[in-house]
Amino acid sequence: MAKPIYILNGPNLNLLGTREPEIYGSDTLADIETACAGFAKAAGHSTVFKQSNIEGELVDMIQEARKSASALILNPAAYTHTSIAIYDALKTLDIPVIEVHLSQPAKRESFRRRSYVAEAATGTISGFGAKSYELGVQAAINLLKA
Ligand code: DQA
Repeated sequence: MAKPIYILNGPNLNLLGTREPEIYGSDTLADIETACAGFAKAAGHSTVFKQSNIEGELVDMIQEARKSASALILNPAAYTHTSIAIYDALKTLDIPVIEVHLSQPAKRESFRRRSYVAEAATGTISGFGAKSYELGVQAAINLLKA
């Protein structure tokens, strides 16, 4: 059995749908989970989808992905811009790592321009709303085929 694609989500993403919809859109995290699972399934992949508001829990999930995932899609939310612990955890992986963001952080406040995660990721997809996740799954599938 092929390992699943892990899709991990950081703080406040549990509030999607009602959180600043003018920036993040009206899809809930459950909607995004369903869309990713369907998209991956059509290409013969399974997914594991998780969210935490706690930095250390995200590190634990990345360590789990190190053993159990074929690829990792990660929206670290605000930890993108602050977390050396997540950066260090990502550096231990030898699978594709796709950083995704609903919004385009480069167009927003200057503190969002720094991504520690980008320095450990295979690539980044941002600015396409909920579609960023589907594009992330597509990128992971392409990398796994290559
Ligand atoms: C985000 C962008 C981050 O800057 C922000 O802290 C988030 C969401 C995005 O998906 O656009 O919480 O990762």
